[in-house]
Amino acid sequence: MLRPILRLGDSILTEPARAVDDITPEIETLIDDMIETMYAAPGIGLAATQVGVPLRVFVVDLSVGRDPSGLIVMVNPAFVEREGTQLEEEGCLSAPGFNATVVRPQRAVLKGHDRNGVERTMAGEGLLARAFQHEMDHLDGIVFIDRLRGIKRDLIVRK
Ligand code: NI
Repeated sequence: MLRPILRLGDSILTEPARAVDDITPEIETLIDDMIETMYAAPGIGLAATQVGVPLRVFVVDLSVGRDPSGLIVMVNPAFVEREGTQLEEEGCLSAPGFNATVVRPQRAVLKGHDRNGVERTMAGEGLLARAFQHEMDHLDGIVFIDRLRGIKRDLIVRK
């Protein structure tokens, strides 16, 4: 089922998400809905906070559903490594139509659980590392414009 994506300005987006205790049927439904909502948007990543659920879950798929092996579901992810920096444009499904250049790690390694509760370590470089950091920020109540300064941020906030 598609879920509405919260827009910038919604206070839920600024709240840190809580850890998931158990992969209950509700969590499985949440994950299915997040994948469907991400693909429909279309987008390459979505955090549970963006659909109004303050739990530490995100989905990422750089192929937007074209490559079945591209889907990553992370439950209770934590960084184990971050290195380097990259400076590229990015956007957010919660801020449609806006792009901004954000500093992100060039490489990021996450440890968490998949949708079956199996522990996973995922390493990402370039765009994948960027997506990991962007979604991890959402789970901490941080949106990408919080990483911007000055005029560009004011412009997006006003709109
Ligand atoms: Ni986002």
